[in-house]
Amino acid sequence: MLSHSKREENELDRRANPWWKPAPPKRLRWRPLLSFAASMVVIAGLVHPALGNPAQVTNLLQPLSQPAQEIKELSLLVLAICAVIFLIVVGLLVYAVVRFRHRPGDEASEPPQIYGSNQIETAWTVLPILIVFVLILVTSRTIADIQNRKAAPGAVQATVVGHQWWWEIRYPELGIVTANELHVPASDGNRRQPTFLKLQSADVAHSFWVPQLAGKTDVIPGRENAMWFEPTQPGTYLGNCAEYCGMQHARMLIRVIVHPPGEFERWVAEQKRAAAEEPSAQAGRKLFFANSCVSCHAIRGTSAQGAFGPDLTHLMSRETLASGAAPNTPEGLRAWVRDPQKLKVGCLMPNLQMSDVEVDQIVSYLQTLK
Ligand code: CUA
Repeated sequence: MLSHSKREENELDRRANPWWKPAPPKRLRWRPLLSFAASMVVIAGLVHPALGNPAQVTNLLQPLSQPAQEIKELSLLVLAICAVIFLIVVGLLVYAVVRFRHRPGDEASEPPQIYGSNQIETAWTVLPILIVFVLILVTSRTIADIQNRKAAPGAVQATVVGHQWWWEIRYPELGIVTANELHVPASDGNRRQPTFLKLQSADVAHSFWVPQLAGKTDVIPGRENAMWFEPTQPGTYLGNCAEYCGMQHARMLIRVIVHPPGEFERWVAEQKRAAAEEPSAQAGRKLFFANSCVSCHAIRGTSAQGAFGPDLTHLMSRETLASGAAPNTPEGLRAWVRDPQKLKVGCLMPNLQMSDVEVDQIVSYLQTLK
């Protein structure tokens, strides 16, 4: 009560001032608004082509696998509920702003001050509680659905280990070790073949995310997380490390290659073979084993047993190098072997200061690892 009359007193004091006059009604200033909108359009136009090949951009709104499909449906439901709330709130706000805007002649009067309405307060307490309750129920049902899925006997099982800055991929039951490109079978109506992953970290926290297949799962040192997916459409699915993990976090890319039914078995058979021995690449082979390459890389069937870097047994079966930093072409390999730091600054593979001839020899040996 006191503060109310105090405010009125202040208002009267202010008006007693000889220089006081009511503020002119504010006009909406269109020009800055229009130029802001125009610059947004220009920026969007510049950014969009910079995103590159649209086919390479992963879109979590185009899921091609469970559980990504289920996650998308839940997200759309949450989005729809929030959109309705947003429209109601903004609608009421705009209505109030327009309907009760300042008009000439309003200076002397104040709108009626209304405090408290039991009906309105009950409504805006109970409704949000109901909405939140619905959201909790549908979300926890989806989470339980995804987490409780158990690997059926015979399902593909792989262990993915996050390293700075690449992914080690092991299939313990198949005896295969590879890197950065996870191969899995597609499911179809006749044969359901989900893939179950165990996620581990060799160093810091990473996060495994292939948006079209499944949600993100963190990869945490000293802990094993699990996830699964069941793609139905063969193809290559791109993903990223989704947890900042150091300098080359942005070049810690994932490729999931989904094979049509039957072809996955062929890939497995090829990966199970020991490394090829080609007499033509003896010089490079010798160089590889004489250098410190062997202390970090493994090549099955040889004395190279390093576990610090990617397994190279079937290096040439991979599409990319350095966790997606470069295409796996002879030029890419040469650039990578000559100076890994140039291609991927800060990566843990050192520059071995090899001559051009040595680089060529090593690369021709690596190219025999098919
Ligand atoms: Cu690994 Cu970010």
